[in-house]
This record gives sequence, structure tokens and C-alpha cells, in this order.
Amino acid sequence: MKSALAALLTAILTMPLALAHSDYHGLPPAGAAAKGAPLTAVCSACHGSNGMGMTTQYPNLAGQKFNYILKELENFRSGARTNSIMSAMAMTIPPSPHNANLKDIAAYFAALAPMWTQAAQQISTPADPEQLALGQRIYTIGIAGKHIPACAACHELGGEGNGPMAIPVLAGQQAAYMIKQLEQFASGARHNAPGHVMHMIARSMNAKDEAAVAAYLQQLNPATTLGIGPKDFASYARALAAPSAGAGAATGAH
Ligand code: HEC
Ligand code: HEC
Repeated sequence: MKSALAALLTAILTMPLALAHSDYHGLPPAGAAAKGAPLTAVCSACHGSNGMGMTTQYPNLAGQKFNYILKELENFRSGARTNSIMSAMAMTIPPSPHNANLKDIAAYFAALAPMWTQAAQQISTPADPEQLALGQRIYTIGIAGKHIPACAACHELGGEGNGPMAIPVLAGQQAAYMIKQLEQFASGARHNAPGHVMHMIARSMNAKDEAAVAAYLQQLNPATTLGIGPKDFASYARALAAPSAGAGAATGAH
């Protein structure tokens, strides 16, 4: 019998193949975010005018990866992902050639101030240090004995996701929403991850693991938690250009 880790490896290796058949890689068309704004009026009732969910069940979309938002909207429209509210909402977006409307909406939310810079005020109960330590361990190194891989391998060390691979941002996402998604991946109710990777991973986690990793991620801020220094070339260039360029400016915190 194939081990869970061997199955996971196969899934990871087949991910680029699954991606190659779809419409959601590539960059947002020029000017897309501005065109998307008027299409999102209805979305803000639940996802907030700043892209932050109005309740813990409504995911934050602010700064989510363009490719991932586009994929999820395509999935809700095709039925590959289902949710009583969102399946209906996705169908209200007017059809357009080459999914231009979906791309404009995805570009709009992707360009908002990232959820991790806005998330702190949403956390009502302070995290328990022991729970955070377990969450950090699962996230950064995984638990080999339970076949839980390091989430950071795909979602990136700061939880900032991977655009070209359509792997979502998790830093600053609503903990309750993430727990629900992990449960749905585990049960198979959500089955739209390429190669079913998240299904295999979530199946290895118990409720305590899920709650811990979600609590860790909700408070994670990649701009400040991973040490001093710019996280990408654009922030490095901005730090150099800033009049008072110094360690503070170089962290890219705002
Ligand atoms: C009535 C509330 C409501 C409205 C209005 C709404 N959504 Fe949602 N949205 C949800 C819920 C609930 C979910 C989570 C579904 C789940 O649990 O699988 C969701 C999930 C999503 C996701 C997936 C996010 C992720 O992290 O996977 C995207 C993308 C999204 N919505 C975009 C939109 C867009 C675009 C609109 C406007 C056209 C919109 N939503 C309108 C409630 C809403
Ligand atoms: C092999 C790569 C990989 C690994 C490792 C991985 N993920 Fe994922 N994860 C994905 C992909 C790809 C998706 C997007 C699925 C889709 O296309 O809808 C995802 C989606 C998610 C979502 C849903 C986010 C949303 O906005 O709806 C959560 C929550 C999540 N992962 C948590 C985790 C946790 C916790 C771990 C570690 C225990 C982990 N992932 C490890 C690839 C991975």
C-alpha cells in the first residue's frame, strides 16, 4: 500500500499538470483592478469594502493572490467548489469573453492592502502561547509522525501564498474560516485542490491541530515576524528610495 507521504509527493508532482489546463495562471490584464471595482459592490456586503470579511465565516479577500481568487471564482461557477451562498453569488457576475469580469474582480481584491496588515483588529480572543507554538510547529516543520507536511512548503514561510501556483495567502485569514475549510477538505466536501493535496493533508489533522495552525496563521504578519529586511525586490527598492531609509523602512511594515 502506498504511504500517505508517497501519495502526497505524487500529488505535488502532478500539480503543475493540473494547473496547465486552466485559465488562472498569468498576470492580471492592465487596468483590471480599476475595472473590477464597480463589479464588487455586491461582494462587499459580506467581504467588506476593504476586502475583510464582515463575520468570521466570510473569508478575507484583501491582498489574496490574483490567480487563486480567479481559480476559486471559476470553480464556484463550474461547480468544482460548492457553497450555498458563494455558488449563487458567483453566478451573478455577468459572463464575459475570456472571463474578463472574473479577472477584473480578482485583480481588484488582490490589489487591496494585504489582509495581514488589516487583521489584528479582528482577533477577539488573545492567542494561547502553547496553542501558537503547536501551530507554528505544524506550519513551519509539520509533524512527520502524523504525516502532516510543513504548510510553509507550499503556502510560503510567512503565509503569503504563491501566486503563479494559485496557492492562497493564509497570513491574516479568519481562523474560523480556515478551520471550516480544513474540515471540508478532510471530509471531501471541498475537493478542488489540484491533485487533492489539501484533502490528504487535512485528513491527517485532528481538531486540535486545525485550531492551532489556524490561530497561528490568523495572527501571522510576514512583514514583521520573519526578521528585519525587505521580503521582495519591490520593497527593497522602495526602502532604498525612502528619504529616511533605515532598518525600520526596510522591513516594509506599514
Ligand atoms: C452573502 C455573503 C457573500 C457575498 C455577497 C459574497 N460572498 Fe464570497 N464568500 C462567502 C462565503 C460564506 C464564502 C466561503 C465559502 C466556503 O465556506 O466555502 C465566500 C468565499 C469566497 C471566495 C473564496 C475565498 C477563499 O479564500 O477561498 C471568493 C474568491 C469570493 N467569496 C468572492 C466573492 C465575490 C467576487 C463576490 C461578489 C460577486 C462575493 N464573494 C460575494 C460569502 C459571500
Ligand atoms: C503541497 C502543497 C500544499 C501544502 C503542503 C499545504 N497546502 Fe494548503 N493549499 C494548497 C493549495 C494548492 C490550496 C488551494 C486549493 C484550491 O485550489 O482551491 C490550499 C488551500 C488551503 C486552505 C484554504 C484557503 C482558503 O482561502 O480557502 C487552507 C486553510 C490550507 N490550504 C491550509 C493548509 C495547512 C494548515 C497546511 C499544513 C498543515 C497546508 N495547507 C499545506 C497547497 C498546499
